[in-house]
Formats: sequence, structure tokens, C-alpha cells
Amino acid sequence: MIQEKEYKSRRNTLAKKLSKNSITVLYSAEEKTRSNDTQYPYRQDSNFYYLTGFKENNSALVIIKKKNKYKSILFVQEKDKELELWTGKRLGKKDAKKRFDVDKVYISKKINKKIRKFLTDKKSLYYDFKSTTKSVEKLIKLSNKISNKKDISPEVEIMRLIKSSSEINLIQKAINITKEAHHYAMSKEKLGKREYELQADIEYVFKKNGAYSDAYTSIVACANSANTLHYISNNQLMKNNELILIDAGCEYDYYASDITRTIPVNGKFTSAQAQIYQLVLDTQLKIIDMIKPNVMRTSLQDKTEFLLTEGLVKLGILKGNVKKLIKNKKHKSYYPHGIGHWMGLDVHDNAPYTYKNKKEIPLKQGMVLTIEPGLYLNKNDKNIPKKYRGIGIRIEDDILITKDGYKNLSKDIVKNISDIESLMG
Ligand code: GLY
Ligand code: MN
Ligand code: MN
Repeated sequence: MIQEKEYKSRRNTLAKKLSKNSITVLYSAEEKTRSNDTQYPYRQDSNFYYLTGFKENNSALVIIKKKNKYKSILFVQEKDKELELWTGKRLGKKDAKKRFDVDKVYISKKINKKIRKFLTDKKSLYYDFKSTTKSVEKLIKLSNKISNKKDISPEVEIMRLIKSSSEINLIQKAINITKEAHHYAMSKEKLGKREYELQADIEYVFKKNGAYSDAYTSIVACANSANTLHYISNNQLMKNNELILIDAGCEYDYYASDITRTIPVNGKFTSAQAQIYQLVLDTQLKIIDMIKPNVMRTSLQDKTEFLLTEGLVKLGILKGNVKKLIKNKKHKSYYPHGIGHWMGLDVHDNAPYTYKNKKEIPLKQGMVLTIEPGLYLNKNDKNIPKKYRGIGIRIEDDILITKDGYKNLSKDIVKNISDIESLMG
């Protein structure tokens, strides 16, 4: 649970970055229709949530900055007995005033009228340029006299890079539930079942433990399906001597986890599978061990590409000089993605990798990064020795950068061959 004073201090930090005589408007997420009159479960916009902790629809945060002082205003849905009967309780203006340490609370119905008034003497307007909601369309119309429009999202997203201890606690909680889910999946009989059955087992553990949602659609991919990076059909039969790649993580109170384990359907790796698995695992362990403040993410990427390519040459999957192979991007056929990404309120946390001047942002204490090397050996690739064809392996953990190194937040989710085999046995 994150306290109001932390949200308030985030608004303070953001306000310091805003120019004088400005107005900032951040809207809550819009509901999304799934079909006809049914909606996807509502999920608050991450930037709005980061600054308010408010989960309700039809809300907005407005920050008015004159000189050095600022005022924050929250717009919330009006109490409405009849609508609340259908869609659930609303906090309402009175309780919002008690809960939020903002200067003013208004009901959302008034927002356009208020914004029109706020805009009259302002030089610049900040809003989320990525948003295409009706509210933003309306805001753009209302502010047609203001030429100085700026994107607020990069200012919030760079703040989201460094996690507070309360955020880290929630991420750890999400990971702990995800650990239970992966271990449960490992312990289940899989032979002859379909991938979606295993997906259901995993997501059952998420929900049972209070994780309302997955942080992204679970990938449960047996055999060659694992070579489709974002495979989500999850409908194939799991057969003897196949591997199954499970990339699944829950979201707990808005914070993500993102974990991949690759395990044998029948509980025992074949020797060809074990060779590839060990190469990916050894690489992952070496890369995680490089992590500390001031290291660049691109150097982790380069080292991963080197280690995996070197391993592929040793196994006879690639032929030639390792550096030359990398220069000619030959390894990309087997390791086409990045080593990892920021994680937090979003599984791919919407935080920058470079400063405005395009220089790379180095790792710093409080960041959370996934480390997820993989090798994807398609069953139809005739350049690969036959015994390795159809193997797809990724191993992914969530790493916190600490003062002088790192903490692997998901280190308790088993990944050594012998540990997996004994848990599955
Ligand atoms: N689960 C998506 C990813 O690993 O980036
Ligand atoms: Mn990931
Ligand atoms: Mn993942």
C-alpha cells in the first residue's frame, strides 16, 4: 500500500519541472469496449495512477502553476445511487477531499468549464501526447489559443524509473505470487493436456492470492510454439519430450512481475534440450552478475549476444568467428530480442532508456530491470543440427539495482536443471 504522502511528494517533484504559467491535465484511462455493451476490466492509466493512486474512471488531475507555487486539483465522479448500483461504489467529492492532499476537488462534470477558465491566462499546456481519448480531443479544442503545448508523459515516466521502497514491496509481492504459480505449473501433470490448462492453473494461483490480473497475457508455449516470441494461442497438446516455455507474471495492486521459465513436459530434459538450456542459463547468470549502478544496459546486451553466439558456435549451430558472426547479425536468427526492459506499473515500464540528449541512461539504484536471454531454434531451420530443431528457451528474472550491485527479486523461482527436475519429479 502506498500512502497519500508519497503520491503528494510525486506531484511536488513533477510540479517543480513544469514551466511557470502552465496548466497540466492528466486524465484517467477510458473504459474499453470488448464487444457490444461489455467492457474489458477497467485498468487505470499508469501515469495518472502514479501521481494519484486513484483507481476510478472519469477522473482527472490538473496542476496549475503560476510562479513557483502550484495548485493541484482532482476531478472525481459524482456520487450516483442508481449508477453505483450497476458499476460499484464511487468515492465521491466529499471523501475524495478527505483522502487526497490536493488543493481542490471538483466533480468531473465540471471539468471542461473549469479548464476553460484555467486556460485564460496560461502560457503553456501539458498533457499526454500519446492519449487519443475523447477527453484529450476536447482539451485540444478548448486550448486552441495556446500554442505552447508540451508532452507531460516523459516527465512522469522518467520519475517512474526509480522505485521507492513501497513500490519495490509491491513488485516483490507480485513476484512471490508468480513464484507460487510457476512452481504449481511445474508440479502439475502436463502430458496430454493442452497449454491453456496449464495457463488456467497459473492464473488460478494469481487470483487465489489476490492478484486480480495478469500483467500481460500469459505465454504458454510448448515445443516449436516457443519460437513465436509472443505466442498466446496456448491451445496445443503438450507431448512427451517437448519443452514448454511459460512466460507469465501477475499484476499485484498495479505492479507487474514478468517471469519466464522453460521446463520439460515430462519432467526430464533430453540431452539436446539440456545443452541449450544450460547455455541460456549460464548466460543469464553471468549477465545478472554484471549488474550494478553505472553499468549500461547496452553493455549487458552486447555481452549476452557474445556469450550466446559463442555457445552456438561450440554447439555447431553457428559456424565461424564469433565477433564476425555478431557483426553480420547472424546470431539474430536465434536471439532476436533485447536482454531486458524496465518493469513497474507496466510490464514494459514506460520509462525512457536515453536522456533527452539521446545519451543512454545508466543503471541506478532503485531501477527494476528484467534479464531474459533466450534461444529460438525453429523446427524448419535446416541450418540447425537436427537434434536441436524445435527447441525454444527463455529464462527471465526481475532484478532490482541496489547501492552497489543487484538483488534478484525472483531468485527463488527454480531454474537449475536439477532443481526443476526434482520439483517436477
Ligand atoms: N512478457 C513479455 C516480456 O518478457 O517482455
Ligand atoms: Mn520481459
Ligand atoms: Mn516475459
